[in-house]
Amino acid sequence: MVAVTEIVYRKVLRPLLFRLEPETAHRVTLAWLAMLPAITRTDDQLLAIRLWDLDLTNPAGLAAGLDKEARALAAWRTLGFGFAEIGTITPMPQPGNERPRMWRLPERRALINRLGFPSAGMLAISPRLESFRRRNPGLRIGLNFGPNKNTPPARVADDYAQLILRLGHLADFIVINVSSPNTPGLREWQAPAAIGTLLAAINLARGNLPRHPPVLVKLAPDLDQEAVVKICAAAEAGGVDGFVAGNSTLARAEVGLTDDRQGGLSGEPLRERARALIRMVYQASGGRLPIIGVGGIMNAVDAWGHIRAGASMVELYTGFIYEGPALIGAIKHGLLHLMKSGGWRSISEAAGSASR
Ligand SMILES: Cc1cc2nc3c(=O)[nH]c(=O)nc-3n(C[C@H](O)[C@H](O)[C@H](O)COP(=O)(O)O)c2cc1C
Repeated sequence: MVAVTEIVYRKVLRPLLFRLEPETAHRVTLAWLAMLPAITRTDDQLLAIRLWDLDLTNPAGLAAGLDKEARALAAWRTLGFGFAEIGTITPMPQPGNERPRMWRLPERRALINRLGFPSAGMLAISPRLESFRRRNPGLRIGLNFGPNKNTPPARVADDYAQLILRLGHLADFIVINVSSPNTPGLREWQAPAAIGTLLAAINLARGNLPRHPPVLVKLAPDLDQEAVVKICAAAEAGGVDGFVAGNSTLARAEVGLTDDRQGGLSGEPLRERARALIRMVYQASGGRLPIIGVGGIMNAVDAWGHIRAGASMVELYTGFIYEGPALIGAIKHGLLHLMKSGGWRSISEAAGSASR
């Protein structure tokens, strides 16, 4: 079945989609996916993982950015993901940057984007999440939050707080995005003092929710080790529950590319840089806080490498565009094979085992 889906995607769907401008292809794909019914998949027990008070049937999820507005929630579980990260959601609607703002680099299995958080805004997205939650309480959903582009720095913490107050009860976990390269000034919120300020406001807002979903901070893969150590210490002191490592990169020459289009690079060239970030975060936080590893996962070996470097869960976006829906099954199948052949008893046992 996996082989058939893979061949149909490679030989038929991908060539058709790649003829379209990337954002049009994205919209068409989401519209198809939104028609899929919710089918619960059973996963091998070996892939199950419990983090915070959350049970996942498998550790492979959808990365933020693909379903920014919760349009195809059922599809993510039907396709076999263990969870989906929805967003980035901003408080108010905003159009994002001028087009063109997304490009494919097929020869490198990469994408460059400078979308700049196009968002319908939290009030438009909320009813979709609420009705889905009522019908499918089992799907694990992370909500990824970001500030509006025109929010002045003094009010950025309020933007995150508003998002938590309005949508936090619908999230299994919350991701604070301070690492998108396409919103001016956003990455400056990764500075240790700034992280402390944000987390204080965020925890205050979360205190008003009936349930307290874990809060993760999503970091950029362009940080050096010294910065990661300081950021992790400040975030841990501020009560963070985990990290997403990481976002797309501004690097070009360092990852073997000469492309000068501005924006975040994702996909295969990002893999080693993302893994280095996962390792740095794992070591800086002493393995105490769960990490979602994301960046350049194109197959099971890539996912396993991120897990061994420190990730307890993994996510992908660009791999899905190049490899299609069969990739999720292939990753789960491959992970099982790698675990069994190496004698691993759980994902938790493997997480960080190459970074200790
Ligand atoms: C077109 C596009 C849009 C994205 N939008 C977001 C976003 O809104 N918020 C976010 O945190 N990350 C966003 N990302 C980053 C991804 O979540 C992920 O961190 C990055 O692409 C690396 O993973 P990948 O190599 O599997 O794509 C986006 C990535 C792409 C390619």
